[in-house]
Amino acid sequence: MNAMVGHPLDADAITGRDLADRLAPPRSDVSGRDHEATRRILYVTSEMTDFVKSGGLGDVSAALPRSLRQQYDVRVLIPGYRQVTSAESEIRVVARLAAAHGLPACELGRIDSPDGLTIYVILCPDLYDREGSPYGDANGLDWFDNDLRFARLGLAAAQLAGGLDDLGWQPDLLHLNDWPSSLASAYLAWAGSTVPSVLTIHNLAYQGLFDRTRLPTLGVPDNAFQIDGVEFYGKLSFLKAGIQYASHVTTVSETYAQEITTPEFGCGLDGLLRRRADEGRLTGILNGIDESWDPRTDGHLDNPFSHLDWKGKRANADDVRRDFGLAVSRGPLFAVVSRLVHQKGVDLAIESTETIVRQGGQVVVTGRGEERLETALEILAQRYPGQVGVRIGFEEVQARRMFAGSDFLLMPSRFEPCGLSQMYAQSFGSLPIARETGGLADTIEDGVTGFLFRDPSLAALLGAVYRAVDAFKSRKQLNTMRRAAMTQNFRWTRSASGYAGVYGRALGQTAAG
Ligand code: ADP
Ligand code: GLC
Repeated sequence: MNAMVGHPLDADAITGRDLADRLAPPRSDVSGRDHEATRRILYVTSEMTDFVKSGGLGDVSAALPRSLRQQYDVRVLIPGYRQVTSAESEIRVVARLAAAHGLPACELGRIDSPDGLTIYVILCPDLYDREGSPYGDANGLDWFDNDLRFARLGLAAAQLAGGLDDLGWQPDLLHLNDWPSSLASAYLAWAGSTVPSVLTIHNLAYQGLFDRTRLPTLGVPDNAFQIDGVEFYGKLSFLKAGIQYASHVTTVSETYAQEITTPEFGCGLDGLLRRRADEGRLTGILNGIDESWDPRTDGHLDNPFSHLDWKGKRANADDVRRDFGLAVSRGPLFAVVSRLVHQKGVDLAIESTETIVRQGGQVVVTGRGEERLETALEILAQRYPGQVGVRIGFEEVQARRMFAGSDFLLMPSRFEPCGLSQMYAQSFGSLPIARETGGLADTIEDGVTGFLFRDPSLAALLGAVYRAVDAFKSRKQLNTMRRAAMTQNFRWTRSASGYAGVYGRALGQTAAG
């Protein structure tokens, strides 16, 4: 056992906290609720759209904790990346986290967001204060010390769970997300803690694999390095550690929860996940989208619109065409808004472009990622000037305008744990054309709110593209489908009640909350 969890605090190291805050009981965010009854959840994440995101996890981490505040005292824990420490929000230092093994001591900061969410920040400039994404440098190369950076995150979560005497707040449960925070559940187990943890897998393909020589530095006991522990084909796997030691595992759609128990989608962890499923400890809970995804009120759009009036949608389409340098057209406009990676089937989307253009369609693409895909897209734009527009990079406002202006979203993902873009698109009246897998299968109704195909092949994708073009030609069918897509309920409240059920079980309660 090690002593790092629950390490007593050095009181002198706590600065910037006023006395009232020290003496106050844990604050509930729910006015009028009984403080004792409100369970405390620490939501541990490596990205949050308030500050920085590389994909959907950032959006989920910004929305889900806020939605859960109806029922719980939820606070967020995030590394102090430069995007966090240089944001407008004031950061007060509220505690000191002790060093352990090769992981440095550091301070814990606190941000109170304008809407009252408490966000704890790990202030460790040596690990986090860098120019780049949460995971790598500007060229997309992983940081060389990601094991230390995210072990520090997991350890901080476990230290909070162990109790930081002067903090005045101690979580009853940790909610971990993906490999970067997974090690927290292992640190809890190795310290003999009884605090439960829930691990949400947003993407099984990213596992956080590191060399076994790193075990002592990270504080991983030798006897945990075995097949029923954290070992994965000779490497240390952060994600496997999370799946082994968390009280409950969730993933972000029901279909993906089943898929990951099969060799095809299980990324080598399907055996362990099958065991969890058999034990009733693997649950699929679909993500939601937040209220800002309403084309009547979204301030980023120059032309608001609703499912009862398409004038605004047409004006948005014209703006997107102008913005991407496309020719004036009344043909269908297809959009791709995506991380440019193999998972997303961007290569299939590229191959389908020739057919789309021959059918009188146009294509706009934004995103960044693998160099070979970025280059292929730039070549595509040069080959079809006026019909294909490409912007390498990512800007939230532009993404929203593309969802609002396009008729169809191309999302031929090879696998998709949940996917948010297809829900954003539907809310903005853009019909997704997607592979029937994971969350895409759970959020798109074929021929009603979008178009699904089965095989991850060009022929199958083109079959769906032809059906979409046919629907476009019949204005009536197009508008009926758009209305069906726009009036769906993808709100977070539904997902929040799913998590309440899982938390309740992990906390040993029969009823949720
Ligand atoms: P994933 O998380 O696998 O990328 P999702 O569909 O769940 O897929 O989430 C995508 C989210 O990330 C959307 O908000 C989308 O607009 C945004 N996004 C897409 N491409 C990028 C990018 N290159 N950088 C940052 N965010 C992106
Ligand atoms: C991952 C998945 C995506 C999911 C997102 C948020 O990035 O690839 O499908 O929507 O996480 O859960």
